[in-house]
Amino acid sequence: THKIIIDTDPGQDDAVAILLALASPELEILGITAVAGNVPLRLTEKNARKICELAGKPETRVFSGAIRPLMRALVTAEEVHGQTGLNGPQLPEPTMELQPQHAVDFIIETLLQEDSGTVTLCPLGPLTNIALALIREPKIANRIKQIVLMGGGFFEGGNVTPAAEFNIYVDPHAADVVLRSGVPIIMMPLDVTHKALTTAKRIAAFRALGTRAGIATAEMLDFFERFDEEKYGTDGGPLHDPCVIAYLLRPDLFRGRHCNVTVETASELTMGMTVIDWWGVTAREKNALVMRDIDDDGFFDLLVERIGRL
Ligand code: BDR
Ligand code: CA
Repeated sequence: THKIIIDTDPGQDDAVAILLALASPELEILGITAVAGNVPLRLTEKNARKICELAGKPETRVFSGAIRPLMRALVTAEEVHGQTGLNGPQLPEPTMELQPQHAVDFIIETLLQEDSGTVTLCPLGPLTNIALALIREPKIANRIKQIVLMGGGFFEGGNVTPAAEFNIYVDPHAADVVLRSGVPIIMMPLDVTHKALTTAKRIAAFRALGTRAGIATAEMLDFFERFDEEKYGTDGGPLHDPCVIAYLLRPDLFRGRHCNVTVETASELTMGMTVIDWWGVTAREKNALVMRDIDDDGFFDLLVERIGRL
């Protein structure tokens, strides 16, 4: 089993990732930390609680973190996710409470308390909370087992600018801190998530579960895919964030390569671009396992089977 902290900005694809984690007995979710990203923080923390309640797990601890990126003004993505960040299903207002502790303090305290090398961080949004924790308490770096994150892209280009993927673009300085931290990193860039497409048939499989979680997932994906489907002309949109959780459950579904990843923080034109040295043409240290291929049928089978348990 894996002990994990999910750092997230729900977001429909974040929500599906959280559902997958909550449905999986191999994962012990120590806490969910919210960050500003797809929508402002007051919505991401509330959406995280809505999803815990949808999963029937209101005992899950949800913490609120950074309200804005380290250096830049917050950029949000309502055009993708809707005004609430979770448009699609009608989910009730959550009744479970937000934890009083700040997300960054929770991350630090947990990493200092748990046995060293046992906690995996799963960032699904901008890396602000993770960077702040690493800056505030550098001792945590070599206690983190690994960081499995969704972000970046190289061969596919960017989805918010021609060069940059949303999570890294929103807080490139935080991404830089994380990539230089020395913590083992597994990265799910657009190069792999663009191969995990929510086709009509796959969405129908969630609806066919007939459960509250299954139907809500179908409604979230119906809303979420409309944007990308139109934009990219594919059948279905990419289901980014659940790749992170799926990797912990079934690493065999993914293929990638160890290489150096460096993030652009200076040029406005390519701000937030992840420069991935796939061919090893530099002497820069290999700091990440960068995924590029997925068994997409296996991935969706896993998702349906797990969300069916809720
Ligand atoms: C990432 O950006 C967000 O909109 C999604 O939730 C995902 O984490 C994809 O670029
Ligand atoms: Ca996200």
